[in-house]
Amino acid sequence: MGEPMNEAWRPKALVFTKDWNTKNGHSLEVYRASGGYKALEKALKMAEAEIIDEVTRSNIRGRGGAGFPVGKKWSFVPRQSTKPKYVCVNADESEPGTFKDRYIMERSPHMLIEGTAIACKSVGAHQAFIYIRGEFGLAYTRLQSAVDEAYAAGLLGQNVMGSGYKLDVVVHRGAGAYICGEETGLLESLEGKKGQPRLKPPFPAVEGLFGCPTIINNVESLAGVPAIITHGADWFKGLSRSAAEGGTKLIAVSGHVARPGVYELPGGLTLKEIIYDVCGGMRDPNKPLKAVIPGGSSCQIVKPGQLEVCFDFDAMRTVGSLMGTGCPMVIEEGTCMVRLLTRIVRFYAHESCGQCTPCREGADWLYKMLRRIEAGEGKLEDIDKLDQVASKIEGHTICALGEATAWPTRSYVKAFRDEFVRHVTEKCCPFGEIPVTTRAMTGAIV
Ligand SMILES: Cc1cc2nc3c(=O)[nH]c(=O)nc-3n(C[C@H](O)[C@H](O)[C@H](O)COP(=O)(O)O)c2cc1C
Repeated sequence: MGEPMNEAWRPKALVFTKDWNTKNGHSLEVYRASGGYKALEKALKMAEAEIIDEVTRSNIRGRGGAGFPVGKKWSFVPRQSTKPKYVCVNADESEPGTFKDRYIMERSPHMLIEGTAIACKSVGAHQAFIYIRGEFGLAYTRLQSAVDEAYAAGLLGQNVMGSGYKLDVVVHRGAGAYICGEETGLLESLEGKKGQPRLKPPFPAVEGLFGCPTIINNVESLAGVPAIITHGADWFKGLSRSAAEGGTKLIAVSGHVARPGVYELPGGLTLKEIIYDVCGGMRDPNKPLKAVIPGGSSCQIVKPGQLEVCFDFDAMRTVGSLMGTGCPMVIEEGTCMVRLLTRIVRFYAHESCGQCTPCREGADWLYKMLRRIEAGEGKLEDIDKLDQVASKIEGHTICALGEATAWPTRSYVKAFRDEFVRHVTEKCCPFGEIPVTTRAMTGAIV
């Protein structure tokens, strides 16, 4: 975990990282010593509506990318339903550039379990599933050990903390498909089927796992809940500088900065403050900032003139981008944006589940055209065709994986058109990058 360069950016209180520098911070012993499971004890005595109201007033918004208010989502679960209710934790964390949930699970797994248990209590669920990315080795081991510890200590099971409330938590490992991070793809996978997203509505809160009301939340969203219940909604809200959302935020910064890492920061800093004041600016002073991918590779690119924008869900829209997962990737001058986009599109083309034609075919077309342009074998009309094909994917698919391919494509072509043109007219990469071979043009994605 990174320490901000400047004391001024330290939050008034740490929510997520408070035990990260303590020896055995992931253990139940350390977690309880720092107040862990007090929130669950309190929540077990609260009415369901009271818990939801507190979480709603805290202004915490979903941290998995879309920023939907957490309490509001919980309020959609139909109280009168006689079906079982479920809570699913989205711990699939596969969006390129995103690496904050893994840290929570490795370093504070009990915080996630406690937040999940409180979410269950708020909707009357007695079964939760944590769907964890299959490649996460340490995070899985720590999380499963923490679940075992919680059962042994009576914090989960038939009689949670002596309250009479029954709650089971199962940790389920994914098998390496990005699409299973999409909430309904996750549900399909958990039901033992192919991870193909469902049409919405119905939304999972009404008809989710096995057709029953289901809450699906990101790891960070749920890990923030114990602090809200312990200290109150106003306290949590006050940790943020932004009116758009409450609390501190885990910001995972990668790329060409001096001090990349995972930082817990007050909500609502500007991108400029994060890059220059928190992360110490660019790693090479001779290579100034060229662009920022703000919150995972599916977000539209941000240029240096837009860095004064507040890094929150609402303000980022004003510069035509998104906060996404809150994990900026910083890019220095000299980086080839055509190559970067080619890499990004290759990922999404490979991860398309194939269910929707525009995404399945369109992503592959984009990738092939990009490979051609990158190799100096493209035509000028290919550049506009990239935008045309992307515009036919955007808004025409069941899930947002289509947008994840279309948004970067359209924004990179718009922001760095000159680089695409130079690849075509100079028949090579102007940055001296050696193009990857063009063998993929024959079909298979390599
Ligand atoms: C293709 C795709 C992949 C996604 N991957 C993840 C993921 O790995 N983790 C996650 O929390 N949300 C992911 N999401 C967002 C989820 O669908 C969903 O919005 C989120 O789990 C809701 O939790 P939140 O409201 O707490 O943010 C993905 C969405 C799409 C379209």
